[in-house]
Amino acid sequence: MIIFACDHAGYELKEQIKAFFHSQNITTIDVGTYSTEKVDYPDFARAGNQKVLENPNKLGIYICGTGIGMSIMANRNPKIRAALCTSTKFAQLARQHNNANVLVLPGRFISKSKAISIIKEFLTTKFEGGRHLKRVKKLSKQ
Ligand code: RB5
Repeated sequence: MIIFACDHAGYELKEQIKAFFHSQNITTIDVGTYSTEKVDYPDFARAGNQKVLENPNKLGIYICGTGIGMSIMANRNPKIRAALCTSTKFAQLARQHNNANVLVLPGRFISKSKAISIIKEFLTTKFEGGRHLKRVKKLSKQ
């Protein structure tokens, strides 16, 4: 189960990715937005965070135009580790080193096929722990 959040600029990519997941029989939770009508990304990052924190073993995928606004807002919650990734390598390292629980994608700057390869990497890579654990623990301290 994957948790999705987006704004209007991420809506189309989110729908394409959701369709891909549904074709693989993977369930999704979608906190919106549900159209291309203009909205404010902080509202949807906050809603996504709430679902991710309610489901601590699940990962989120947030999409806005650049991915930057969603990242800034998502990371205001100390338990969220949101990583804006534009390559599979970044997705791999975000999981291995940072134990990222949210992947952020730039809806206006990435193709569906690139997004899906980044998502596959993110969802299948495990946190390495070890020396990274103490660093990740420090992320939650304000
Ligand atoms: C919306 O126009 C755009 O500002 C938003 O999707 C995002 O890119 C913000 O960081």
